[in-house]
Amino acid sequence: MKGKTILVTGASAGIGAESVKQLAAMGAQLVLVGRNEAKCQKVASDVKRTTGNDAVHVLVADLSSMAAVRQLATTYKSRFDRLDVLLNNAGAMFLKYEESPDGIEQTLALNHLNYFLLTHELLDILTQTQGARVVNVASDAHRPGKIDLSDLQMRQTYSGWGQYCNSKLMNIMFTYAAARRLGGKGITINCLHPGFVASDFGDNNASGAIGKLFVGAWRFAKKLSAISVEKGAATQVYLASSPEVAGISGHYFSNRKAVKSSALSYDNVLGEALWSQTEALVGVEWA
Ligand SMILES: NC(=O)c1ccc[n+]([C@@H]2O[C@H](COP(=O)([O-])OP(=O)(O)OC[C@H]3O[C@@H](n4cnc5c(N)ncnc54)[C@H](OP(=O)(O)O)[C@@H]3O)[C@@H](O)[C@H]2O)c1
Repeated sequence: MKGKTILVTGASAGIGAESVKQLAAMGAQLVLVGRNEAKCQKVASDVKRTTGNDAVHVLVADLSSMAAVRQLATTYKSRFDRLDVLLNNAGAMFLKYEESPDGIEQTLALNHLNYFLLTHELLDILTQTQGARVVNVASDAHRPGKIDLSDLQMRQTYSGWGQYCNSKLMNIMFTYAAARRLGGKGITINCLHPGFVASDFGDNNASGAIGKLFVGAWRFAKKLSAISVEKGAATQVYLASSPEVAGISGHYFSNRKAVKSSALSYDNVLGEALWSQTEALVGVEWA
């Protein structure tokens, strides 16, 4: 991976931080994106120390804010002249209804709109970089997910887990719809399920009695059956780096293999309707 530059979102913790470590060990230049500068700098210095790779940089952005996503892309392009891999990894589940700085339901803003807008804003530099890849971290939690075009923000009856599942289905439908558009530009785009991973996922919900109960139960489940972050990062690191997937686009991977996603995820009419609503929400028209 020497000579390649990789941007990883949600790099301050969990699977993202571990992906940075594994990709830096392969010799790539890494750009870590997170909202907490101190946490990102700590990951960067640990990675430099353990891998001996000093080409590890930090950019700060709250990825639930569309202005911050735009600013991130502008800053990235002013500092780096290529982008070999965009690893859209930042994501979370919000038990209680919350809104982003733009007044958009937080799960939709962070997990879906951020992937869509950041990819769009970096398309020019991705196109200029031969063999560029976009890798979207989705989840098998997409399987019960639904797309309600009349209420994408789930404002009628909010369910934290339900909206998380919906957002992960959106990651997959975005991947499939973007692959239809990006083929001619030489950019591949794939998505994946990392497994059930012992990361910090869910810990943001620890306030209030229900939140504490949820986090306690989730931590217990992780102890019983989750895989390590090292194993959890394997499929996204594979998609970011392996020559085996050069030129492969528009697939959902699990355990480093292309697998079938839910039947609904292949509904291209629904996928295109989601695409149009997403464009309207973030204020872009994707050529
Ligand atoms: N863990 C699992 O079992 C599992 C299973 C399937 C899919 N996934 C997916 O894997 C991805 C990574 O999750 P993880 O398990 O590694 O969880 P994690 O340990 O909680 O890490 C999430 C990362 O996203 C960042 N993030 C959250 N909100 C952000 C915001 N507004 N702006 C910028 N960064 C933000 C976090 O930053 P802070 O450090 O500042 O919080 C952290 O770096 C997610 O897309 C998740 O949906 C996870």
